[in-house]
Amino acid sequence: MKAGIVQTNPMFGEVRENTESARGLISTQHADLWVLPELFNTGYQFISKKEVEELAEPVPSGPTTQHLIQIAKTAQTHIVAGLAESAGGQVFNSAVLVGPTGFMACYRKIHLFYEENRWFSPGDRPFQVYELPYKSNKGDTLTCKIGIMICFDWIFPESARTLTLLGADILCHPSNLVLPHCPQAMLTRCLENRVYAITTNRVGAESRNTETLHFIGQSQIVTPKGTILFRAPEDQESIHMVDIDPKTARDKTINSYNDLIKNRAPKFYR
Ligand code: ACM
Repeated sequence: MKAGIVQTNPMFGEVRENTESARGLISTQHADLWVLPELFNTGYQFISKKEVEELAEPVPSGPTTQHLIQIAKTAQTHIVAGLAESAGGQVFNSAVLVGPTGFMACYRKIHLFYEENRWFSPGDRPFQVYELPYKSNKGDTLTCKIGIMICFDWIFPESARTLTLLGADILCHPSNLVLPHCPQAMLTRCLENRVYAITTNRVGAESRNTETLHFIGQSQIVTPKGTILFRAPEDQESIHMVDIDPKTARDKTINSYNDLIKNRAPKFYR
């Protein structure tokens, strides 16, 4: 399966341009699955509730999800991308999954970071996994399972573990990272759950109030053994795809005595 990161540098509020810029990058190469950053279409640093409400869109009927569906159909690919979702008078920091057949799913970020707590409601639905078809190197159509978590969800090991217990082979992880810890921490998330992780961050900076946020790039693809297959630069837009075998995430054995899932002892975890 060919899967990759699309590391962009969104301009705040320029939804159409930011989506077009992602489209331009995706049109340069083919993959079965691309992961874009958190809030890839709007930018990150909102300064009022009114602003986030104006930039949020319904899913799937809003223009960004519809635009992403067109991109996925044209490129015959799947896309996971973060955006601000308006629903029932609330705004969620969400990520949509779209593919050649159209809209597939929407995850609402459960663990909000810092000022996101002023703008967004926390996700109100449980973690879920989704089945994705892909072509093996021999040309057979196979299926993998992906889970979606967004940025700060990483610091709660329960996010990756829950998705693993639901059967995820790949964690798709749109991000807008400003602190340095996540890229290395995701190696442990992969190792402790034996899953792939595709963390896509953005680059650039935003200074929309007295604070400047610098986004750290370093989007990466990590294997179930915790090996970094690719890590993008800290400061440049980047698109990169690797060949992975999702089936390798299904073997949770460490040796003939130990299995990451079977050896859990949930009765002692209370
Ligand atoms: C983050 O959750 N955007 C750090």
